[in-house]
Parts: sequence; structure tokens; C-alpha cells
Amino acid sequence: MLDPKVTELLVDQINKEFYSAYLYLDFSNYYKDIGLDGFANWYMIQAQEERDHALLFLQYLQNNSEKVALEAIAKPDKTYHSAKDPLIYGLEHEEYVTSLIHTIYGAAYDIKDFRTMQFLDWFVKEQGEEEKNAHDMITKYDLFGNDPKSLYMLDQELAGRTYTAPSLTLD
Ligand code: FEO
Repeated sequence: MLDPKVTELLVDQINKEFYSAYLYLDFSNYYKDIGLDGFANWYMIQAQEERDHALLFLQYLQNNSEKVALEAIAKPDKTYHSAKDPLIYGLEHEEYVTSLIHTIYGAAYDIKDFRTMQFLDWFVKEQGEEEKNAHDMITKYDLFGNDPKSLYMLDQELAGRTYTAPSLTLD
């Protein structure tokens, strides 16, 4: 069994990760709609990664004999006025998720819950990568997004992203 406060935060993180998947699905859907299939692919894979994160939190709780009640996932509420908008929202969202992970880590640290801290170590590193990726997308868009030919090339590059399962696996 885990500490009730840590458990509550971990359960809530399942919902937050599924929301992240839903948000990125919304980004993907928007890009598909405006004909940027490569950007749509990139965020479709991002959505799959977020689903994986949610399932890891669920599995960790199950492995620790915690009962999990799944809550409703909020509707993505973003509006997009340009192809850059989801990229900005994406970075903001990842920074927010980093803060959530750090809050759970802090709660585990306070009560010397070393097992949860070790589980969260992967997510701490992952968030660093996620923020960098989100930042790089903005940088690339700023460099290439305003010229149609360059944007086409960037879209082609993003079309090449393929799904890989998370490096963290739980028994
Ligand atoms: Fe699961 Fe992008 O954080």
C-alpha cells in the first residue's frame, strides 16, 4: 500500500496523462484538417506516448494493491488560429505536466517513499525530453514555417516519426 496523499496524486496523474493524449489528438486532428499530415502524425504519436504514460501510472498503482477509480477526461478547450498555436500550447502543457510530476515527487520525498521516487525518476527524465521536443518544434516552425516550400519539407520530416514503446516497463 502507498500513502493516501501520494496515491491520490498518482491516480490524478492517470487522468492528466489521458488528458494530454486527448489534447495531442486534438492537435493532430487540427493539423489533419489544414493539410499538414506530418504534424498530424507527430502529434498522433505523441498522443500514443501519453496513453502509455497513463497506463504506467495505472499499472504502478495496481502493482501496489491500490484501488483506482477512473474519472472523466476533460474536453480539449484550445482554439487554433495558426499552425504555430498547438506548438505553443504543447510547450506550455509539457511545462505544466513537469510541475505535476515534481509535485508527486515532492510528496513522495517528504514521506521517504523511495519506491515511488524511483518509479517517478523515469518521468522526471522523460519530461526533460518532452519539454525539449516541444521547444524544438517551435524553433523549427519559426525557422521554416513561413515559407511554403520549407514548411512542406518540415512536414515531410515530421511524417517520418514512428511510435516506440516507452523504455520503462513494470513487471
Ligand atoms: Fe506524459 Fe508529455 O507528459
